[in-house]
Amino acid sequence: MRPKGFLQGPARAFRPAGLCVLAGLFWLAGASEPGRLAHAQNGPRASESPSGARDSAPRWQSAAAQRGQALYAERCAACHAVDSNDAGPKHRGVLGRRAGTVPDFEYSPAMRRSQLVWTRSQLDAWLRDPEALVPGQAMDVSVPDARARHDLIAYLATLR
Ligand code: HEC
Repeated sequence: MRPKGFLQGPARAFRPAGLCVLAGLFWLAGASEPGRLAHAQNGPRASESPSGARDSAPRWQSAAAQRGQALYAERCAACHAVDSNDAGPKHRGVLGRRAGTVPDFEYSPAMRRSQLVWTRSQLDAWLRDPEALVPGQAMDVSVPDARARHDLIAYLATLR
């Protein structure tokens, strides 16, 4: 415990902001190797590319999206690809898309009827428990770990 009156006046006002910055730095440090940390701080954000151009493969991705890409290769690529249908539908453009609408992919009737739109929170619910979100669906895979889901969704969001 700190003694009462430890931070007074203007210093006190800055304290919460300082804590946020610190927390952010710890998060970054935990999320990336030192080399990437520097990159993350100095590099442009994906949404701030100078030309405003949308690259199909962004030159800069968040650390979360990079982890998500590795997870995707491990856990999703057996059935999914970015640009072609496989056992599962292709994923490019999935964020913001209506569920069950990739042309030439044979979805379960449950999925076609679902009327879902793949927002981040719907994707999270889907990956956590597909059957709870769309009973009768045909994807027999779930991702119980919240951080893994977050990273996967960060990656899916880059597939524009
Ligand atoms: C065993 C094969 C398999 C694996 C592995 C798999 N999926 Fe699927 N996925 C499917 C199938 C099949 C569907 C279509 C489900 C339906 O029609 O009910 C699907 C559908 C989806 C959809 C809905 C797409 C749309 O167009 O509506 C998303 C999003 C998705 N999968 C994400 C993932 C992610 C992310 C992973 C990795 C964690 C993953 N899937 C792993 C088979 C798989």
